[in-house]
Amino acid sequence: NWQMEDFIERSIEEIRQKVGNKKVICALSGGVDSTVAFALTYRAIGNNLLGIFVDHGLLRKGEAQEVEGYFRAMNFPFKKVDASRLFLERLEGVEDPEEKRRIIGHTFIEVFERESRDFGAELLLQGTLYPDVVESAGIEGAQVIKTHHNVGGLPERMSLELLEPLRELFKDEVREIGKLLGVPEGILRRHPFPGPGLAIRILGEVKEEDLNILREADAIFIEELKKWGLYDKVWQAFAVLLPVKSVGVMGDVRTYERVVGLRAVDSVDGMTADWSKLPYEFLDHVMRRIINEVKGVNRVVYDISSKPPATIEWE
Ligand code: XMP
Repeated sequence: NWQMEDFIERSIEEIRQKVGNKKVICALSGGVDSTVAFALTYRAIGNNLLGIFVDHGLLRKGEAQEVEGYFRAMNFPFKKVDASRLFLERLEGVEDPEEKRRIIGHTFIEVFERESRDFGAELLLQGTLYPDVVESAGIEGAQVIKTHHNVGGLPERMSLELLEPLRELFKDEVREIGKLLGVPEGILRRHPFPGPGLAIRILGEVKEEDLNILREADAIFIEELKKWGLYDKVWQAFAVLLPVKSVGVMGDVRTYERVVGLRAVDSVDGMTADWSKLPYEFLDHVMRRIINEVKGVNRVVYDISSKPPATIEWE
């Protein structure tokens, strides 16, 4: 596609103009937008760019290794910072969803700020897209949605200049550019994943053992979606862990264990969503695997709420 190739050439020129010899830092998460923004900027300024991949201990099963593998394969200059201890300590005893977001946000900024200073960064690269720009202009109640922002407030606090090379683009264009830049399919196809990670998919307090239960259940759900060719058909899918126990029976023994909720939605931009009409046989198969394989879970439910009035995430 010549239009996209043209965009790449033009952007590389613009980035070089704007950055000069200064250093640029970027929070890498493995998401589509930040990865494509990074690949583009890397072409323009090489090792004057550094990616910081913060492992906050709230990632999915195998995710840190997987994402790191992609960054390595693309030769990205990046540094992984394992801060999971710090995040989990600060989340101890915290139940309120917005409070969890605040704590994770602040801790993230703290970790990132330190790395940025060490590197001597003067600019911050972000994978902002056109819909994000429109949203933060205050259209359609976007204020509320944007408490979500991973690194909101970061540039102001650190007096970094913003670099947003994707701000004229829509998601499908970003995917196309990513493909042209050699970003692996595995990244381009990924469902959105919230900045606070599994912390907002464990309802209530976040505990290490619950993270492990959720990771196993979620991994089964995602693995089966891929196997059945359904992963690319839904906009986002995940498991949540409820803070209640329910009664079950295993053989002739009564059990009293946790409940896992499965969520899969069809959407265009995440602003509204419908629950995905996944085949019954598929749901049945996933339910069986989760209850048989994940210790501590004896019940699985499928979320049939639309957004609005529900949200996509449970917190
Ligand atoms: P909701 O739950 O608001 O989610 O319907 C809409 C989309 O936003 C994602 N989401 C977040 N992303 N930080 C993020 O970076 C957050 O705090 C956050 N909360 C929700 C959600 O996964 C969905 O794609």
